[in-house]
Amino acid sequence: MSTDRYFLLGNPVSHSKSPFIHTTFAEATAQSLLYATRLCPLDDFAGQVQQLWQEGCLGMNVTVPFKEQAPALCQVLSPRVALAGAANTLYLRDGKVCCDNTDGIGMMQDILVNLGWQVAAKRVLVLGAGGAVRGVLQPLLQARPREVVVANRTAARAEALADVFAQTAAEQDCQIRGCGFTDVGDQSFDLIINGTSASLQGELPPLPASVVASTTAVYDMMYGAEPTPFLHWAEQLGAERGQDGLGMLVEQAAEAFALWRGIRPQTAPVIEALRQTLLASKA
Ligand code: ATR
Repeated sequence: MSTDRYFLLGNPVSHSKSPFIHTTFAEATAQSLLYATRLCPLDDFAGQVQQLWQEGCLGMNVTVPFKEQAPALCQVLSPRVALAGAANTLYLRDGKVCCDNTDGIGMMQDILVNLGWQVAAKRVLVLGAGGAVRGVLQPLLQARPREVVVANRTAARAEALADVFAQTAAEQDCQIRGCGFTDVGDQSFDLIINGTSASLQGELPPLPASVVASTTAVYDMMYGAEPTPFLHWAEQLGAERGQDGLGMLVEQAAEAFALWRGIRPQTAPVIEALRQTLLASKA
């Protein structure tokens, strides 16, 4: 194989914006590469990964529902992957298959740098306790919030997740606890991050309105042409600002690109281009 090739493995995968993002990054950084999606059978993730390495592929992104299966196929796990138990980027280094999870650093890059929001010393409510939230908790805690409450429909999953990240939180002088949506307390939060997939069903996590104050910032890891139900709900309650996860999508891709190519592309033009495409799809 002469051209450097990278793949996104997932199921489903055809809707993905990653080929556009990585092709744009490659053009902007004068890197010669091909990035394509590969629909992976649900029962043969390991076989597909093996086949792609054999074909000479240099790196892979992994998406739903395979992120949790990826670490077992790698020889070197980043500390983030070890804690999250999920990987979204596979690459080769010194003859070894390595993996990382760039979702959380991508989200924090969007929140801290692109949006300029403060996280240090803030009270943060994280909604959800699935793979998406597992992937972002460590980079979130590294921004040194004062308190993180993980709330989930199934409270036990949130409690278990808070236990997994308890030591990382303590190292950052942060309190972390897990609970159900009705046990978040009646104090408002500085930042609320929605990592549930409720928006996909047009639903809203059943939270008390008291969690939103006029100074609250809200972030939804999902994105779309319209504000997600969660962003809409928070806006109605008077949240100061809200943002969807389009920037997170592009930033996690930039981190993966940097692992593969050793160069971190500019993200703002790509976020803007995708935003325009989303808006045009609405018109
Ligand atoms: P992902 O990898 O996208 O995180 P997941 O691991 O299936 O997917 O997790 C989905 C998350 O969204 C979970 O926290 C789930 O809550 P449960 O743990 O109780 O299943 C949450 N979720 C899904 N649909 C929801 C809904 N309609 N309302 C609230 N939470 C929902």
